[in-house]
Amino acid sequence: MKIVMLGAPGAGKGTQADMIAQKYDIPHISTGDIFRANLKNGTELGLKAKTYMDAGQLVPDELTCDLVVDRIAQDDCAKGYILDGFPRTIPQAEFFTAALAARNERVDYAIDVEVPDENIVNRMSGRRACPACGATYHMVYIPPKQEGVCDNCGAALIQRNDDKPETVLNRLKVYHDQTQPLIDYYTEMGVLKGVDGTKDMKEVFADIVKILED
Ligand code: AP5
Ligand code: MG
Ligand code: ZN
Repeated sequence: MKIVMLGAPGAGKGTQADMIAQKYDIPHISTGDIFRANLKNGTELGLKAKTYMDAGQLVPDELTCDLVVDRIAQDDCAKGYILDGFPRTIPQAEFFTAALAARNERVDYAIDVEVPDENIVNRMSGRRACPACGATYHMVYIPPKQEGVCDNCGAALIQRNDDKPETVLNRLKVYHDQTQPLIDYYTEMGVLKGVDGTKDMKEVFADIVKILED
């Protein structure tokens, strides 16, 4: 099962991808998480990506595409995987379709998590992330049991660098310009499924499971 998650920044792609990955025992591959892990480890890729990410711009395709194709070639992806944050431009999607075709494969589902712009800034300003295990919380909607502390591993939660309101607005603009066209791209491919991302996170998950098991 090869799944692509689409949706605006803060729509809940990562939140849902984590739950799907657990339920179906397939890896959750987030290009944003990969860049952030590289930055944390001080790699050259991480330092290059940081300039773009902090400005709310996209990291260039040449730093992104090969990385994903290498990742999906690993053994743990044999049963499938869920991609979160890739592809996010038409050239990335075309590259990915071709890379899959070369392996006689294709995307099975592109799930678009639909959340209007008005809700996004709210979601982002309340988001807190665990730097140790990657879990995501929201101060109001999905709070940890103890304020500021990760339920899974006890690490202190942090706010992402690119969640400042001015950067969020830029990320939204980039989303509308460069990523939203993928909705048409995957509709034409016949694999697009939309879900209402404004519902409670468990309801959104149930809607996605229904799609995957239909
Ligand atoms: P990336 O990390 O992918 O960020 P993004 O697409 O902007 O998406 P987010 O991670 O911000 O949001 P999300 O949809 O995962 O929402 P979440 O589940 O956290 O990319 C970051 C940067 O990396 C990019 O700007 C770019 O620079 C670079 N990059 C990455 N991939 C790239 C690529 N392919 N090409 C080029 N550049 C690339 O949820 C958000 C908040 O809402 C959380 O607090 C959560 O708890 C809460 N929440 C979730 N669901 C619900 C719900 N149903 N109700 C209420 N609250 C909810
Ligand atoms: Mg995410
Ligand atoms: Zn943690």
